[in-house]
Amino acid sequence: MDILKAPKGTRDLFGPEMESFLQLEETARRVFHLYGFSEVRTPLFEQVDLFSRSLGETSDVVQKEMFTFVDRGERTFALRPEGTAGIVRHYIEHSLQAKGGLHRLYYAGPMFRAERPQAGRYRQFWQIGSEYLGPSDPGSDADTVLMVNQIFKEFGLSNFSIHVNSIGCKNCRPIYRKALLDYLKTKETELTEESRQRMNINPLRVLDSKADGPKLLDAPSMKEFLCAECKSHHAQFLSLLKTSKADYFENPKLVRGLDYYTRSVFEFVSPDLGAQSAIAAGGRYDELVENLGGPSVPGVGFALGMDRVVAARIAKGTTEPASKTKKAFVIPLDEQSFPMAFQVAQNLRQQSISVPPVVAGKKLKNQLSHAVEIGANWAILIGEDELKQGILTIKNLSSREQKQIKQSELKEFFKNA
Ligand code: HAM
Repeated sequence: MDILKAPKGTRDLFGPEMESFLQLEETARRVFHLYGFSEVRTPLFEQVDLFSRSLGETSDVVQKEMFTFVDRGERTFALRPEGTAGIVRHYIEHSLQAKGGLHRLYYAGPMFRAERPQAGRYRQFWQIGSEYLGPSDPGSDADTVLMVNQIFKEFGLSNFSIHVNSIGCKNCRPIYRKALLDYLKTKETELTEESRQRMNINPLRVLDSKADGPKLLDAPSMKEFLCAECKSHHAQFLSLLKTSKADYFENPKLVRGLDYYTRSVFEFVSPDLGAQSAIAAGGRYDELVENLGGPSVPGVGFALGMDRVVAARIAKGTTEPASKTKKAFVIPLDEQSFPMAFQVAQNLRQQSISVPPVVAGKKLKNQLSHAVEIGANWAILIGEDELKQGILTIKNLSSREQKQIKQSELKEFFKNA
């Protein structure tokens, strides 16, 4: 019989990598709450139209990367390739605008794209992202970038660069698009087949091409075509990043592969990952809510790729932030001591000390080395003497010091530990 395997481009998360995923999620949640965001969970599949209407019919994701299926009622759905469309659908469906104010929402979970798998590129991958619906000021764009920056720093990742650009709005981009197309036509014979096809559908995407980008160094730049409002928005966005000491650099070639963006776009890039180096990306999308049938409400957001962020930290060998939860390991020295050991473990867990299940009948030496292996701070030994005298022997596993306390002092001892 064939061995059953996870589908191509997917994988199981376990062991230290899974631990890092959890830490990243925990870090992001903490930072989101500092910025006043709250979590929303949307379905893993949605009507296929939601994605074609938001990401753009001509985007690679819609054209060739969606996992679609027809259900028994002949309805066509797609596994979500990203999170923004679902959040905007949620915003419109629940009339959040009518409830007033600004809406700061975040999400975390798996996304699905039928891409050609390679290192750092999966068919099921994990994103954490946020969408800020309502604000049009450049401060919200800067806040988004700074929030991602803080998540990475607090997760222990410092080696990355922040690329930023403005791709204008519905007033100035068409003029740029025309100028770029005229330029690309003069280079047409030098371009790859893919770029020649893209050129007429979405010429901005040609700038993004790995093969052709370097041939287009003298291409007109969006910056020269920005209208007065977009220019001022971009200048204020950059100035806020500068005063917050975020280390960004302007990349006029940054255009993004999804169609909903207007004005600010950005990408966080890690030098430690090879070809799939984008660890987070996002930008402003002032027309998306309206294009999906909602009110005219602007928005700005980002998503980070958890698989890549975790890989970047592993590649850099950065030490993980020490877990804040203290760990103890309770060892019964004989069968009779097991019930007492079991009880001590229960009591400690109620004091938020982590204690793995107590095991009877194992050699002390093996139990102690296991305790060290899992990073326990203390071993608590309970045997005949301890039972008789109503005491516990506590061994500090880093200093190796050992002391005895009364069983009744357990709570007090760990309160200050
Ligand atoms: P995106 O650039 O398509 O943007 O994806 C964001 C991040 O997800 C990428 O920078 C990358 O780290 C990760 N990612 C994308 N595809 C894969 C893959 N196949 N395997 C592993 N990681 C991947 C968006 O998804 C937008 N929704 C971001 C956004 C939110 N813009 C505004 N709001």
